[in-house]
Amino acid sequence: MKPVYVINGPNLNMLGLREPDVYGKETLAGLEERCRRKAQALGLDISFRQSNIEGELVSWIQEARNAASGIILNAAAYTHTSIAIHDALKVAQIPIIEVHLSNIYKREPFRHHSYVSPVADGVLCGFGGQGYELAIDAIHEILTKKKG
Ligand code: DQA
Repeated sequence: MKPVYVINGPNLNMLGLREPDVYGKETLAGLEERCRRKAQALGLDISFRQSNIEGELVSWIQEARNAASGIILNAAAYTHTSIAIHDALKVAQIPIIEVHLSNIYKREPFRHHSYVSPVADGVLCGFGGQGYELAIDAIHEILTKKKG
């Protein structure tokens, strides 16, 4: 089966150093390792990526249409600003799960709007790194239903 793309947006490469009271102490490498273990247990392959560049995220989403079986996306700050990411997700035609480490609805009002949510199959936020594992479970469930 094609891999699930786990796509991370800007500043998530700074996890561990960045506002640990909000995002926790786990690094991006730690999060990747956790995702790999979870995916492996479910028999899924993942391609884990991070970019600070909006256009690169758009290109990965476009690529995913043919190369991936699903997308788990933490678009970070671009969640709240990017019509380009919204438009790219619209043509992906594979399951899309939106994740955020923090509960964006408990935070500043500018984080309450997401351009990703209207084009996602599901949204997880506020569970820290565990949210990524829950997203992998969700994608697995959706893909299993699709097959069967
Ligand atoms: C985030 C929430 C966003 O509002 C923020 O800009 C991020 C991280 C999260 O994972 O909680 O960079 O997506």
